[in-house]
Amino acid sequence: MKCAPGILLIIFIFISHHAQLQGQSDQPPAAYTQAYHDMLQRVEWWQHDRFGMFIHFGAYSQLEQEEWYKTNKQLSHAEYDGLIADFKPEKTDCRKWAKLAKMAGMKYAILTAKHHEGFCMFDTETTEYKITSHMPGRDIVKEFVEAFRAEGLKVGLYYSVIDWHHPDYPHFGDDYHPSRNDSTYMDTEHDFDNYISYMHEQVRELVTNYGDISIMWFDFSYGDMHGEKWKAKELVEMVRKHQPGIIINNRLGLGNNEDWGIREYNYNMYYTPEQRVPDKPILDKYGNPIPWELCLTTNNNWSFHKDDHQWKSPELIIHTLVKCVANGGNLLFNMGPDKNGEVPEPYWDIYQKIGAWMKVNGESIYGCGPSELGRQDWGYFTRNNNILYAHRMYPHIGYIDIKDYFDRVEQVTVLATGEKALVTESWWGDHSGDTNKLYFNIKTPQNHQIHFNYIMPDDLDTVFRIELKE
Ligand code: GLC
Repeated sequence: MKCAPGILLIIFIFISHHAQLQGQSDQPPAAYTQAYHDMLQRVEWWQHDRFGMFIHFGAYSQLEQEEWYKTNKQLSHAEYDGLIADFKPEKTDCRKWAKLAKMAGMKYAILTAKHHEGFCMFDTETTEYKITSHMPGRDIVKEFVEAFRAEGLKVGLYYSVIDWHHPDYPHFGDDYHPSRNDSTYMDTEHDFDNYISYMHEQVRELVTNYGDISIMWFDFSYGDMHGEKWKAKELVEMVRKHQPGIIINNRLGLGNNEDWGIREYNYNMYYTPEQRVPDKPILDKYGNPIPWELCLTTNNNWSFHKDDHQWKSPELIIHTLVKCVANGGNLLFNMGPDKNGEVPEPYWDIYQKIGAWMKVNGESIYGCGPSELGRQDWGYFTRNNNILYAHRMYPHIGYIDIKDYFDRVEQVTVLATGEKALVTESWWGDHSGDTNKLYFNIKTPQNHQIHFNYIMPDDLDTVFRIELKE
């Protein structure tokens, strides 16, 4: 199903109106309106697709610990390089990763081309610190883009502007560098411009050697290491010269979170909350929604960790995805292959369950966005034009209140099965005086008491499809 551009417009108009009611009535300048409009066009496919896969895979996977290991243990270059020397993930089969993502209903994927450790998962002219030095002929970025495209998924690349390997990246005294406390680097002069040229050249390779790249996911900025420190404008302009339609996240630190506006939309940035779902749409100063994407781990780590068995349940993941869409965001859900490049066993089961739900309920996610009805006791609403989707996650709490839409309801069905729901307008027990309530329930041979609490057919999230009259 193609995203009806109308949904974005409806959200835009509704939220602008809502913001004005709340007193945010600054009239945006024409340049802003143009920048916002252009940005919406660029992110249209992405806001439609809503659900993507993040893949954390690098030489750090060899450690079976975490991708921050080198700095958490403050290892020297020689110590770390000794630990990753055997990294040779010959069993990597990106087609399996792609099948996993597709099975879960994901529509795009982002792979770590280079993480903070500095090891490149692509063949680059700039360094020998790369996968093709360990496994000649195996450019993982190339294998990734080809496999995911073959499954019809869009591809993006994560690239760390921080680099814990390059000799010209500041060592001693840096906030995060593994050698931050190593006094042998105290007087070392780092030619940071040299590092910046190296980093820009690697990004240039990534956006010119691998065909269409839909997203560049930069990571990350801190302290005074942000924005122009990375020559970020030049970097973004170069990326967009080669990939005009690309979407770019906000972690180059070019934007100003308090005053999100023309520059941010022109540089095509979106928000990237991590491990926590925003509880309402994120608005800019004119009250318009800023595109965002939550990134979330499946257990507690991005890269494969041998001792981490704290897997999130399919239920929690589906609820999180719904909550993202209901608040105007996407979900980028992580998978960390093991040191051989294989998908760890637990993912298959978790992703299969998500996929089974998405298969029959995807209509309430793809092409959908927030409805102004907001958070409910029993779950969330999502909306696509004249269809409201009520996600009944907590079936035993409360009734459905669709406020101003009350007179517009055409019919209510259970999305997964298409069966008509029992619907009524009020019941004898409601003495609140507030008659704008809509009750609906599943239909079973025993069930005709609409206001009773019946167990919903899908204990993960039963979706009711509420069709509204135009
Ligand atoms: C953080 C971490 C990093 C991870 C990223 C994913 O910035 O530094 O390890 O890749 O989040 O969002």
